[in-house]
Amino acid sequence: MKNIIVGQSGGPTSVINSSIAGVYKKAKELGYDHVYGMVHGIEGFLNEDIIDLDDYLKSEENYELLKRTPSAFLGSCRYKLPKIEEAEDVYEKIFEIMEKNEIDSLLYTGGNDSMDTVKMLSDYAKEHNKKQTFFGVPKTIDNDLPITDHCPGYGSCAKYIATSLKEIIRDNESFNKNRLTVCIVEIMGRHAGWLTAAASLASDGNSSGVDAIYLPECEFDLDEFLGRIKKLAETKSSIVIAVSEGIQTKDGKFVCELGADDRAVDAFGHKQLSGCAATLANIVAKETGLKTRAIEFSTLQRAASHLASLTDINEAEECGMRAVEEVNKGNTGMMVTLNRTSENPYKCETGVYDIHDIANVEKKIPFEWIDEENKSMKKEFLEYARPLIMGELTPIFKDGLPQHLVR
Ligand code: F6P
Repeated sequence: MKNIIVGQSGGPTSVINSSIAGVYKKAKELGYDHVYGMVHGIEGFLNEDIIDLDDYLKSEENYELLKRTPSAFLGSCRYKLPKIEEAEDVYEKIFEIMEKNEIDSLLYTGGNDSMDTVKMLSDYAKEHNKKQTFFGVPKTIDNDLPITDHCPGYGSCAKYIATSLKEIIRDNESFNKNRLTVCIVEIMGRHAGWLTAAASLASDGNSSGVDAIYLPECEFDLDEFLGRIKKLAETKSSIVIAVSEGIQTKDGKFVCELGADDRAVDAFGHKQLSGCAATLANIVAKETGLKTRAIEFSTLQRAASHLASLTDINEAEECGMRAVEEVNKGNTGMMVTLNRTSENPYKCETGVYDIHDIANVEKKIPFEWIDEENKSMKKEFLEYARPLIMGELTPIFKDGLPQHLVR
């Protein structure tokens, strides 16, 4: 018996299921008997909640549907493995379940926190002379995993953000100056501004683009923010500003907490960051008397598979395939990376890297790519991000609605 299992962890993306598709395809090609999926990541695995992907993916039709399905088909979790010395029984249980089901390799798709799970399990296996192998498949809309050029999930989210901003700008520009609206748009990404920076892609020659971009990499100054809006309001009939959910004031307070400070905290100690657009819209209305509107892209930005980037879908699939190839060769304790080999034309290859240099490390936008004075992105960022949003994969529609593969 030669079996493999794959799990999904952390915030979903609109292309994470393409990685599952890639794992299934390559594993079947390489002669694996069973390709299992964990239901709700390692948390579900601990309850032996696993499915056989043959039950869902044997037909080409379902395979294609999975690639067009947003969110985590297998179900996700935010479960932090305890330290080995504090809860050895948890690790013993994981290996017991693997042995019972004759699973040789475990693949985990996720971001920084999920790569910690890969690291812990591969370390445990080494220390205890276990033969099972563990590999990370990158996934995060936040695009903040180090080493890899970018992360599957980012390009599609960036495409949704730039597209939606173009539409918002169109709408906001429809009135004259007497009905000026200040639109504040909040974008995910936690402590990294990659997604918010994608707002700069809205300025494509067919749209005037956003008026300012506030990234978590730069300190947020409320007086500067209000001053900028007042100045823009002197001449403009529409103001659209992109803000990251993770912007913080000089004293380290999240702007979203200026309104209320009762945020939920997840297993990794991350506070839920949302609500900064609403907070800022209230402040602007109060301080300037201008009409404001707060828009939080929230879940929409990471679930918009109808607008996913084909480049992103293909790369997510390739990452899943590469991980299977690696464990099939006996490699362990690593993550698949995307390495850009050419700028123009854009070319990207998969590689692999030691998980210890990746888990729990957050990659921020290089300061040289940020025009802090004008609150905009420099051409280096635009050149980096543009290829990642290229291409489309038309959804499969039924009765006017896109169809998804469901368990
Ligand atoms: O890590 C991805 C992400 O979408 C972040 O951008 C965001 O802050 C977080 O997840 C939200 O997490 P949840 O959906 O668990 O509230």
